[in-house]
Amino acid sequence: MASVIYQCIEQIGSKIIENKDFLTELDREIGDADHGVNMARGYTEALKAIPQEEEDIGAVLKKTGMTLLSKVGGASGPLYGTAYMKAAKVAAGKKSLTLEDARAMMDEIIAGIQLRGKAVRGEKTMLDALIPASEALTAGMAEGKDVNACLADMCSAAEEGVEYTKTIRATKGRASYLGDRSIGHQDPGATSSLYTLEAIRDFVAGL
Ligand SMILES: Nc1ncnc2c1ncn2[C@@H]1O[C@H](COP(=O)(O)OP(=O)(O)O)[C@@H](O)[C@H]1O
Ligand SMILES: [Mg+2]
Repeated sequence: MASVIYQCIEQIGSKIIENKDFLTELDREIGDADHGVNMARGYTEALKAIPQEEEDIGAVLKKTGMTLLSKVGGASGPLYGTAYMKAAKVAAGKKSLTLEDARAMMDEIIAGIQLRGKAVRGEKTMLDALIPASEALTAGMAEGKDVNACLADMCSAAEEGVEYTKTIRATKGRASYLGDRSIGHQDPGATSSLYTLEAIRDFVAGL
């Protein structure tokens, strides 16, 4: 029987793989048309590399991060790889997670991506989904909402962040080569981040 965390990564991978063509299409418009293909390959490889019975959430997240780092090229491989490695540190040795853990993970993930990619909010990257998502999670917790409500708020904020990427110019990554012509296009990395969070929300709701 596959562990709960393995099943969660499987659900994230399935969502990315289902949306592979759309993610690649977004990247065709403002990049080099490889984002969906890259991410789908990364999750396929990660699911092969993770021992299915492993219950240590940190160990599974670390393996996922290492695989994404080594198998996904471009900007997003190292960035998503870093995100999983940072989340793994929070989850090391744990077999279940609390909302507090989730919040700590989001903080680590965002700090890690920012250190690696040197981007801030508003540059049309995955951070424009992740930072509002993290803020919404924190706000939901402060209001005393339950896990499912907090994760739902997190996803709504990420979705708004993805919409916002359509209105701004890219100043980091490949899309920045387009300058003002990147305006009007949805950022692929913000979109894959939204899908990741939505898959987690749906997985947790089904537990
Ligand atoms: N410096 C950065 N910080 C955060 N995210 C970034 C950065 N550069 C690019 N990205 C994200 O990576 C996505 C592109 O990923 P991908 O197409 O896989 O890589 P590449 O641009 O190298 O082909 C962008 O849509 C953006 O969200
Ligand atoms: Mg690309």
